[in-house]
Amino acid sequence: MKIGIDKLGFYTSEFYIDMAKLAQARGEDPNKYLIGLGQEKMAAIPPTQDTVTLAANAAAGVLDDSDREQISFVILATESGIDNSKAGAIYVADLLGLRKNIRTLEVKQACYSATAALQLARGYISLHPTEKVLVIASDIARYGLQTKGEPTQGGGAVAILMSAEPRLVAFDADSAFYSENVMDFWRPLGNDTALVDGHYSTNIYLDLLNKTFQDYQAQNGYQIDDFAGFAFHLPFTKQGKKGMQALLAAHASQKAEYFMEMFEVSRQYNKQVGNLYTGSLYLSLLSLLENSSQLQAGDRLGLYSYGSGAVGEFYSVTVQPGFRKWLQKQEHQQLLNHRQEVTITTYEKMFTEAVVDGTDRKLDTTADHARFVLAGVKDHKRVYLSR
Ligand code: HMG
Repeated sequence: MKIGIDKLGFYTSEFYIDMAKLAQARGEDPNKYLIGLGQEKMAAIPPTQDTVTLAANAAAGVLDDSDREQISFVILATESGIDNSKAGAIYVADLLGLRKNIRTLEVKQACYSATAALQLARGYISLHPTEKVLVIASDIARYGLQTKGEPTQGGGAVAILMSAEPRLVAFDADSAFYSENVMDFWRPLGNDTALVDGHYSTNIYLDLLNKTFQDYQAQNGYQIDDFAGFAFHLPFTKQGKKGMQALLAAHASQKAEYFMEMFEVSRQYNKQVGNLYTGSLYLSLLSLLENSSQLQAGDRLGLYSYGSGAVGEFYSVTVQPGFRKWLQKQEHQQLLNHRQEVTITTYEKMFTEAVVDGTDRKLDTTADHARFVLAGVKDHKRVYLSR
C-alpha cells in the first residue's frame, strides 16, 4: 500500500521584516544575514497569532469536505505550544470544524517532531487505509531580541494531509534515525525564549546528517545520484547548503551542480520566512515541489529532519504522477508576496507583546486579516475568533 502526503498547506503571518534592515539595526554587515545565514526576510508574528491559529490557518486552505469526513486523527507538532497539558490539536480541530469522533494529540521533540508525527501517521494509515491523518507543524521561533539567534527566528505552519493513495509524494520503505543526548538548543520550563549553543548546534546537525545518510544507504544501497533532489531542515538556509555540500563532499556524484541548483529551489520559501522550527523541512519540500520545473513522477527525494537535543532522521519519498495539479503554488506565492513589511521597532513591539502566558488580556485584532486569530485571554483561557 502506498502511504504519503496527499496535500500540503502553508501559512505564515501577514508581516515581515527585511533582514538587511535588522542587520543595520543590530550593527552587523547586512551580508552576514543575507549571505552568511542565507535569509532575506523574517516573519514577524503579531500577538494575535499563536501556534493554534497558525496551524488552523495553514490547514483551512487545503481541506475540503471529503477530507473533513475522512480525517480521524489530528497531530499538532510543536515546541512552542500554548498549554503545558492540553493539546493544541484539540483547538485546531474545533476551529476547522472537524468531526468529534477523532483522536487529537500534540507531539514535541524540537524541530524533529513533525517527522515523528508523519511516521506515526504512516503506521496509523496502514491499519486504517480509508482514513486520513492531519499532521500540522506549527511554531514560532524565539531566541530573544539582540541575541545571536535573533536573525534565525521566524514562524508559521505547514499542514500535511497523510493518506493512502497520496497525490503528492509516497513514503519509501527505508528510513534511518539517530538520537543522542546533547545540549545544543533547549528551552527550560518557564522560559519563553530558547537557549542555544549556536555553533555547536550547527555541527551536531551535520554530524547526524552524516550518520543517518550512511545508515539509510546501508539499508538499501542507494547512491546519491539515485536521488532527484533533497530537502533539509532549514533553521536558516545556509545550514541546509552546508548539509548539501557535506553530502556531496562525502559521496561521489555526477550531478553535483544539479543538486546545488535544486537546493536553491528548495530554499526559496524558507529564505522569506525564517525558521519555522519543525515545519522548516516541510516548507522546504513544498518549495521544491512548487518551484522546480525539473521534478517528474517517480523521482526520489531525500529528506533530512533534525531536532536539537538531538534526533535526526533521513528518509525518502517518491514523487507521484500528476502531483503539480494538487499544489497551491499561486496561493502560497501570493501569501508571501502580499505581506506587509514592518519596521524593526514594530517587530520588537510584536515580539515583546506576544502572549506567552495565561494572563488575561484583550487583543486588538483589526490589523490581522487571517481567518483565525487570537482575540485575547479570559479566565486564563485563550479566546479564538474564526472569521
Ligand atoms: P553568529 O556567531 O552570530 O554568526 O551566529 P557567525 O559569526 O558564525 O556568522 C554566520 C555566517 O555568516 C558565517 O558563515 C560567517 O562566515 C558569515 P559560515 O562560516 O558559517 O559559513 N558571515 C558573512 N558572510 C558574508 N558577508 C559577511 C559576513 N559576516 C559573517 N559580511 C548562529 C550564527 C547560526 C550560530 C546563530 O545565529 C545561532 O545561534 N542561531 C540559532 C541556532 C541554529 O539555528 N542552529 C542551527 C542548527 S540546530 C537546528 O537546526 C535546530 C533548531 O532549528 C532548533 C530545534 O531543533 O528546535 C535551531
